[in-house]
Amino acid sequence: MTTRLLIKNIKSLVQVRDTVVLKVSGAEMKELPCIENAWLAVDNGLIADYGSMDDFPGIEDWKGLEIIDADGKIVMPCYADSHTHIVYAGNREGEFVDRINGLSYEDIFARGGGILNSAKKLSEVTEDELFEQAMVRLKEVISQGTGSIEIKSGYGLSVESELKMLRVIKRIKELNLVPVKATFLGAHALPLQYKNDKTGYINLIVNDMLPRIAEEKLADYIDVFCEQNYFTPEETEYILKAGKEHGLTPKVHAEQMSHSGGIQAGVACGAISVDHLEYCNDTDIEVLKNSNTMATVLPGAAFFLSLPLPPARKMIDAGLPIAFASDFNPGSCPSGNMNFMMSLGCVQYKLTPEEVINACTINSAYAMNVSHEVGSITPGKKANFFITKPISSYGFIPYSFGSNLIESVYLNGVKQ
Ligand code: NIG
Ligand code: FE
Repeated sequence: MTTRLLIKNIKSLVQVRDTVVLKVSGAEMKELPCIENAWLAVDNGLIADYGSMDDFPGIEDWKGLEIIDADGKIVMPCYADSHTHIVYAGNREGEFVDRINGLSYEDIFARGGGILNSAKKLSEVTEDELFEQAMVRLKEVISQGTGSIEIKSGYGLSVESELKMLRVIKRIKELNLVPVKATFLGAHALPLQYKNDKTGYINLIVNDMLPRIAEEKLADYIDVFCEQNYFTPEETEYILKAGKEHGLTPKVHAEQMSHSGGIQAGVACGAISVDHLEYCNDTDIEVLKNSNTMATVLPGAAFFLSLPLPPARKMIDAGLPIAFASDFNPGSCPSGNMNFMMSLGCVQYKLTPEEVINACTINSAYAMNVSHEVGSITPGKKANFFITKPISSYGFIPYSFGSNLIESVYLNGVKQ
């Protein structure tokens, strides 16, 4: 295992912040500090130092170092993916074709598909099988540049299956490969058995699931799908507050299919992030401005479901910080490729390359409370970064949508 590494001749070292910055807001998002023609030193898994090749350390300092020549290549901190559902069984390709043939996401859910389809599939696999399937996805997204990840439960919808999902997430966390945050999303949909007894299911979440999850220390966050036909803002607040009593920090799936009131419910409960935001309105923007809650856009889900676009440009112009995450899941975004999320951000949302890189690194790290340890090239932060193929500039990454421009990924200073 390499403990000391020196990368020289870096065409551009991107997202360099000398001191820990936890998030960037509004006009600050247009600024992306870089060092051109740079070097980067890694020691013991952490970023040790960096500078311009004009001040390259003397040859006597190189002893014991592995030296990499990054001539013509760019080095960037890994993406932080603050919203995923990568622990799931099988896929939902059949529903993809149903949607092509005219059914909506809501139609599919109404006939027992969607999240309930994934819940059925998940109930039929063992914990080990679930772990193996999730690991395939994790390795794929790491190769695409992701270096920290949040993972949700929510395809269990029963005490045993929710615990099974969260235990898989815990196993992934304990690999210590990348920082992992676990989110309990029992309130993702009403399971069939509780079709006519929503109160009964909410009681199950609050009285049975939460105490077990807290006892086994299986989650960092609690999340609710606040949406028509799922959970109301009042139910959302009730569940988030119950989670808080067990030490979990709130997050919300908000305003995705309609103006659900999820943003206001989340901010009222001190949510670290509210995610989706397709139907976010001007009042919500004002509410967010008076909060520490990260507005998180999931461009892949809006793309895959052909939803109206969240007003990301308007939010940044109003001074808000914006984070991007993938929402990798079998129903609304079967991809965790953050490079593509950046392309969508530039093309569809009219964000600049600087803004989307900030949204996918420092701000998404904030949305999962890891921006003190990842999300920028800062001394003392984890050496989780990637080296690109030879490219003209960082803007070439969102520009070349669909291309794989990442040559190698380093986690804790170790090449993957
Ligand atoms: O984030 N919106 C709700 N939940 C997921 C989709 C879940 C699914 O369809 O499996 C989302 O888009
Ligand atoms: Fe989601």
